[in-house]
Amino acid sequence: MHIASSHDSAAARDKPLLYAELVQQLRALIADEPDRIANLANASALLFSMLPQLNWAGFYLLKEGELVVGPFQGKPACVRIAVGKGVCGTAALQRKTIIVADVHQFPGHIACDAASNSEIVVPIISTAGELLGVLDLDSPVTERFDAEDQQGLERFVATLLQVM
Ligand code: SME
Repeated sequence: MHIASSHDSAAARDKPLLYAELVQQLRALIADEPDRIANLANASALLFSMLPQLNWAGFYLLKEGELVVGPFQGKPACVRIAVGKGVCGTAALQRKTIIVADVHQFPGHIACDAASNSEIVVPIISTAGELLGVLDLDSPVTERFDAEDQQGLERFVATLLQVM
């Protein structure tokens, strides 16, 4: 007999499907709109409304060598993060996705919302190899993000790159 738990919701079982839907909806949202802020704002709203167990979803954009908060959903967040600092700055520096199972164990984690317990940060790198910023998702649930989230969100960011 299958007994469902909080980690075993329908959404969790169908993660690849959920991300396929997310990417499809993102494509439709950005198809006829060239404005970057408009598209990032809708992208953060899409993630925040469709993915379960999030308390923050949004972007930090690289401006003059520093990450500056961009469109997001959630509580007000720290505005500027140096490359190399926190989870966002580390993902930006290393140019790779970072999954943090428990933010309280990550040295240098920047706590914007006390509710956050786990986090995933995906770097946004242009096809020319230029770092444009990062996508950051926070969850109140420890170990919320896994390899399927990483794959789905990297595909989401790749789709978004078409309008950045
Ligand atoms: N926790 C992030 C900072 C950004 S907020 O979570 C929105 C970090 O350590 O980089």
